[in-house]
Amino acid sequence: MSDRKTILIVGVTGMLGHRIAAAMLARRDCVARALIRPGGYQGEKARRLDELRGRGLQTAEGDLLAPPTLPAACRGVDAIVSAVEGGEEVIVGGQANLIEAADKENVPRMIPSDFSVDPYKLDHDEHASLALRKRTHEAFRGKQVKSTSILQGTFMESAVNPILELVDWDRRTITYWGDGEQPCDFISMTDAAKYTAAAALDDGLSGRLLRVTGDVLTMRDLHALLEEFVGRKLEAQLAGSIEDLRRIIDERKRQDPADQYAYSCYEYVWTMVSGKGKLHPLDNDRYPDIRPITMREFLFRDISRRLVGLRSVLRPMTIRESLARNPSLDWETGISNA
Ligand SMILES: NC(=O)c1ccc[n+]([C@@H]2O[C@H](COP(=O)([O-])OP(=O)(O)OC[C@H]3O[C@@H](n4cnc5c(N)ncnc54)[C@H](OP(=O)(O)O)[C@@H]3O)[C@@H](O)[C@H]2O)c1
Repeated sequence: MSDRKTILIVGVTGMLGHRIAAAMLARRDCVARALIRPGGYQGEKARRLDELRGRGLQTAEGDLLAPPTLPAACRGVDAIVSAVEGGEEVIVGGQANLIEAADKENVPRMIPSDFSVDPYKLDHDEHASLALRKRTHEAFRGKQVKSTSILQGTFMESAVNPILELVDWDRRTITYWGDGEQPCDFISMTDAAKYTAAAALDDGLSGRLLRVTGDVLTMRDLHALLEEFVGRKLEAQLAGSIEDLRRIIDERKRQDPADQYAYSCYEYVWTMVSGKGKLHPLDNDRYPDIRPITMREFLFRDISRRLVGLRSVLRPMTIRESLARNPSLDWETGISNA
């Protein structure tokens, strides 16, 4: 009998989830099983799944919103990684269903879909989507299955994408909120996945947080690096103070709290530039064999190599436009997830 641990990954057809599955399979010291939704996949998602299956990924059908489909997928599993994305229904309700099934099947540990700045330093109403993540953690109360929350900062892919409205490649501007001197945490999605795979196999993290990141830069540092990367000047757009940003978010929330697209990326930027979501202390030393890439390496090595990614980064889009055009857009490659 194999003594390799079995890890169930939920969300393998997604941006982060498929990288987590690839990182698990690359380790060769565990069995990777994925929960996939019934009905089959088309396009990029089907391609990702075929590729992962070719490398040994096992699959079980199920849906977080259909609780009876979950226990079979959890059976015999040593840890679960959830990399799902969605609204309250999926993040709170769906993950609570998964926690329930994991508990029933005696799964000792689950990594919920956090992968963010530190949500525990934020007040409840400061970030709507991270507040949902905190609510998910309540579902672990009184359960044998323990959580391991992984906090990693902002994905480098997201930071340089116009969707976050920090970089506008078309107008050649960088938006500053405040003085640009606050250090922020950045990590590539591939490194986020490597740390997640390591944490899924690390029983010492039962009931604990893991804070890891790839690079710590101020907006001024990022600005200088991006100018070097594109070989031209990017004008600093002084949008206002950090308090101004908070006021804009609160005003948009007041106008229409349900319209999260109007404020969710601004909220994310606020957690970065205010320093409120800063990760501290960092646990990178826990896994000395993982050397995450810096923003410089990401730009000059990773992004430059992947021209598809570069094209999408250079394509200017507002949050509204990009989501209206394609609600399941892969932020990194610009390829539809649908
Ligand atoms: N720190 C950062 O800068 C940053 C940036 C982006 C994302 N993130 C975080 O990373 C995590 C993953 O995000 P992502 O962008 O990779 O997600 P994504 O690409 O949108 O993928 C979402 C995944 O969730 C699955 N899913 C959704 N509803 C489900 C359900 N009811 N049952 C089973 N599976 C379901 C989807 O499956 P189907 O294919 O079947 O729909 C898909 O595989 C999220 O927590 C997100 O907030 C962090």
